[in-house]
Amino acid sequence: MTVDSVPVALGARSYEVRIGPGLIDRAGAQIAPLLRRPRVAVVTDETVAGLHLARLADGLAAAGLAHTSLALPAGESTKGWAHLARCTEWLLDQKVERRDLVVALGGGVIGDLVGFSAAILRRGVRFVQVPTSLLAQVDSSVGGKTGINTAQGKNLVGAFHQPSLVLADIDALATLPRRDFLAGYGEVLKYGLLGDAAFFDWLEVNAPRMVAGDAGLRQHAVRVSVAMKAGIVSRDETEEGERALLNLGHTFCHALESATGYGDRLLHGEGVAIGCALAFELSQRLGLCAQEAPSRLRAHLRSLGMKTDLRDIPGDLPGADGLLGLMAQDKKVVDGRLRFILARGIGQAFVADDVPPDAVRGVLTDALAAR
Ligand code: GLY
Repeated sequence: MTVDSVPVALGARSYEVRIGPGLIDRAGAQIAPLLRRPRVAVVTDETVAGLHLARLADGLAAAGLAHTSLALPAGESTKGWAHLARCTEWLLDQKVERRDLVVALGGGVIGDLVGFSAAILRRGVRFVQVPTSLLAQVDSSVGGKTGINTAQGKNLVGAFHQPSLVLADIDALATLPRRDFLAGYGEVLKYGLLGDAAFFDWLEVNAPRMVAGDAGLRQHAVRVSVAMKAGIVSRDETEEGERALLNLGHTFCHALESATGYGDRLLHGEGVAIGCALAFELSQRLGLCAQEAPSRLRAHLRSLGMKTDLRDIPGDLPGADGLLGLMAQDKKVVDGRLRFILARGIGQAFVADDVPPDAVRGVLTDALAAR
């Protein structure tokens, strides 16, 4: 398989997303042209370190690059003030300078945290994303959103800080537990649903083999997803308009994640899949799309054994008003109005700024009653 390259066109801050097999082993050669001196600082988590850090270290050494590394605990709770301080102070201890480069090796938690640390370190140092989860490869490593969670909510503290390069190694996906792969698939599906009906058709046919491990299909799906995100980000870097489409399913998802404690009961990508199904259901009830759209989406999720409805979330959930209250905390609330991404059909999403709360309450009440 060859390596694909997707450009993210942002003027002086443009960069490439390279997608293909063996990129972690060859990261040294890929990164070396960006360096002013032959050393990098690598931040990862303990799980990813066990799986991939030795390969990365060998590749860096083969390219003549020295490195130091820090492995943080794995898991969403790492993405907070405490580990941001630890990571940033460690980078200072390593004497990382303005012209050096930091490598973030891991999933979305590491990419967001290390990217934010790089954004604030010496008022900004460059960083390279080496995403190892499907979710990070198709979404969080591209586009420059970095940040941490606080007691008040997810991703409420952060900065736009674009990476200098993204290396998405398709081989890393082979080490993911099935549940994590499927959670990342929720974000892949999102691209078809929001703007590319032909990609959704392709996924309906190819997803079973892709989930089973076909690396060529995985590379194709990552490339199509990244290309769509790169286009949107280059037109609307700071989410003044079109970029909000990438939040399809996320208003529901964030409320569900908050209700379930951001943990094992519901992974982010699982919440995105359920949230997309609810967003299409809401669109149908508002008369925007035919019943076929939510039905087809649900059938696809079910065929892969994915969480599809609120009844697939174990344990108690708040009532409809409790979930609506959690949505009101969301970053996507504008002037107190609920903002949703709705759809006129598969591949035809748009931003709706003033969705009637009663319609949302109705969708949630019925979904909760079916549990
Ligand atoms: N994950 C949504 C975005 O990057 O805008």
